[in-house]
Amino acid sequence: MKLITALIQPHRLEDVKKELFDADIHKMTVSSSLGCGQQKGFTETYRGVITEVNLLKKTRIDIAVNEEFVKPTIEAIIKGARTGNIGDGKIFVVDLGECIRIRTGEKGKDAIG
Ligand SMILES: Nc1ncnc2c1ncn2[C@@H]1O[C@H](COP(=O)(O)OP(=O)(O)OP(=O)(O)O)[C@@H](O)[C@H]1O
Ligand SMILES: [Mg+2]
Repeated sequence: MKLITALIQPHRLEDVKKELFDADIHKMTVSSSLGCGQQKGFTETYRGVITEVNLLKKTRIDIAVNEEFVKPTIEAIIKGARTGNIGDGKIFVVDLGECIRIRTGEKGKDAIG
């Protein structure tokens, strides 16, 4: 099992969701987050004062999957999120030790899918 975490541009969420649904991936957690990547932020003018803003609004998507869904999930996220511009986002893939469905007590592969 893997936990796939994607940080994407908020305005790409609908496209990413569509691609995920088309790939038969329906379980996900979506949340708002703040972050910065290798550009380390940018400057903007607020009330005439140049302010450095280095945490930009991103949308975070967490999806726990069985091994056979790792590749389709990553591909769907990229398809929906990529514009070719800086800040398109990033995907982290980590080994997932366990998953438990609280209602039934099912674990692992049965609980995730
Ligand atoms: N190494 C990292 N650790 C934790 N979060 C990160 C890391 N890199 C990127 N992120 C998160 O991903 C978001 C999107 O990153 P972003 O797409 O700007 O990556 P990047 O490495 O700067 O690539 P690009 O040059 O395409 O912008 C960031 O706002 C941040 O939330
Ligand atoms: Mg960046």
